Amino acid sequence: MSAQDYLAELFSLEGRVAVVTGGSSGIGKGIATALARAGAKTVVVARGREALTATVDELTALGCEAAWVTGDLSGRDAIREAGEAAAAVYGEPDILVNSAGINLRPPMSEIDEGVWDATMAVNLEAPFLLGQRFGPGMAERGFGRIIHVTSQQAHRAFVQSGVYGVSKGALESLARSQAEAWSPHGVTCNTLVPGFVMTPLNERLASDPEKVAALAARTMTGRNGLAEDFAGAAVYLASRASAYVTGQALFVDGGLSVH
Ligand SMILES: NC(=O)c1ccc[n+]([C@@H]2O[C@H](COP(=O)([O-])OP(=O)(O)OC[C@H]3O[C@@H](n4cnc5c(N)ncnc54)[C@H](OP(=O)(O)O)[C@@H]3O)[C@@H](O)[C@H]2O)c1
Repeated sequence: MSAQDYLAELFSLEGRVAVVTGGSSGIGKGIATALARAGAKTVVVARGREALTATVDELTALGCEAAWVTGDLSGRDAIREAGEAAAAVYGEPDILVNSAGINLRPPMSEIDEGVWDATMAVNLEAPFLLGQRFGPGMAERGFGRIIHVTSQQAHRAFVQSGVYGVSKGALESLARSQAEAWSPHGVTCNTLVPGFVMTPLNERLASDPEKVAALAARTMTGRNGLAEDFAGAAVYLASRASAYVTGQALFVDGGLSVH
């Protein structure tokens, strides 16, 4: 067997269908691009049509098969509709990536129920409901990969974790519960844990060069993350190669968490 065939056997996503929420920007876009380039027919889900269209155009130009679906993952009915719409494009997905997320950053004392509800809906309830929608089918078919994107704040307080940290901590627990339920049937569930990544989510923080440099200095690699840094880890967790890795949190953070 050639080296190329061996690598394809381990990592190729040819013949797979992937759904990536938040796939139109930042880390989600980096992951959607990687999965599509590795061969998966990829559906990206978000609210803004402009960024969705631009993402799919870029993927198509790279020779990938990709499509978009609009969906607002901040309410139960809309989450369910987005799940149905995503599955209608290429069929039931083999790979689900939950990257859509929001970080509202009021100081702890000012967090009200509105901030709590909004954060929990997008960051936690959408991954849960999409997991309920797709997980059992993956288990029935004997193969599935669920990948959540969490945060340093799932593990420790970090730059005003607030409710965001609560939602990400729970998301890691959700991954373990899903792993416990569906791993016996070939469905692994894991999380990717970013450090500080230069994306629109961090626009305000990223506009302060001193803070950006201070965060880079806290890593071991000496720089902050880029969306492309998630490509290899995402393909690995989506592929056959990771069949025995489940319920885990994989830190893609330049060593920030262990420095
Ligand atoms: N950047 C970091 O340093 C960092 C660190 C740790 C964890 N993370 C996590 O990584 C994930 C991606 O973050 P990012 O930095 O890549 O953010 P981003 O560039 O702001 O992208 C967020 C994506 O989520 C979508 N989205 C937001 N609200 C949505 C909603 N209500 N319904 C559907 N889609 C929605 C956005 O599209 P629309 O706005 O068009 O809907 C966009 O595609 C998040 O879960 C975040 O918590 C990021």
